[in-house]
Amino acid sequence: MSPAASSLGKDLVGLEDLDAGQIRSILDTAEPFKEISERKIKKVPVLRGKTIVNLFMEPSTRTRISFEFAEKRLSADTVNIAASGSSVQKGETLVDTARNLEAMKIDMVVIRHWASGAAGFLADRIPSNVINAGDGSHEHPTQALLDLLTIRDHTGRIEGLKVCIVGDILHSRVARSNIFGLLKLGAEVGVCGPRTLLPAGIGELGVTVFRRVEEAIEWADVLNVLRLQLERMKGGYVPTLREYNRVYGISTRRLEAASGETLVLHPGPMNRGVEIDSDVADGPHSVILKQVTNGVAVRMAILYLLAGGAPEQAEAAKQEGVG
Ligand code: CP
Repeated sequence: MSPAASSLGKDLVGLEDLDAGQIRSILDTAEPFKEISERKIKKVPVLRGKTIVNLFMEPSTRTRISFEFAEKRLSADTVNIAASGSSVQKGETLVDTARNLEAMKIDMVVIRHWASGAAGFLADRIPSNVINAGDGSHEHPTQALLDLLTIRDHTGRIEGLKVCIVGDILHSRVARSNIFGLLKLGAEVGVCGPRTLLPAGIGELGVTVFRRVEEAIEWADVLNVLRLQLERMKGGYVPTLREYNRVYGISTRRLEAASGETLVLHPGPMNRGVEIDSDVADGPHSVILKQVTNGVAVRMAILYLLAGGAPEQAEAAKQEGVG
């Protein structure tokens, strides 16, 4: 089965591959889809008859559940596969797993994988649409898109904004996708973290590197705070978590010392008291749960567009079957 022609191409592997128009089109398509999740009956027939496999080879709460809600609210048939309990545990390769799923006539695969490049590798080898739900330290495009939508909701723009990504940039697919997306939409982007957690040559991507978090907060309109990915750290990247919090942690004291009304995002899961203090995470600067809410609408928009839906018909599509 060949996938329908879409304005995004066959797959969504990363924001590095999209242009500004395609990114804006996803954000604009997500807008009308937000309202579906507010309805008493949260279901429209937009993807009726489509079969989607959620193939999660790494743990996930937000991305996996939000994709599943998005798929179900658009009336797709969904199957969830985790490494544990699948034949991956018996040594089956990723491509063999996908080809067997293809043999059962699926339409789309949403994949999270520990290996950087896994989503693109699969996209090049199977005819179904492939959506990257996070691959190693490469990209997490749907997270960056929901971050962009949340920033746009709260500031009214992306162009000209100063957004600083703070924390473990080295291991972060969220950072890479955010950098590509923000720069393409005309934001200024900063990064801040210990030298050990900044990739070599990060400045060549077009970002400003801040050594002191106080300077980053003073500069930024928006902070996107990243967790220390302790599970990907084989060596000692920071002396202690307490020391990391003392030097880089986002606290109310640090936010109040800066001049502006800084917006604070975090992709989750959070290490409270390490990269972000609880009073910030739960306080007035935070839009962290709004990011989660927007994640469902953004994923609906991506599914709709990859299935061949037209951005300008999203409003009409969501009214189908209502009444
Ligand atoms: N932000 C994010 O990817 O969270 P999960 O790992 O819970 O999906």
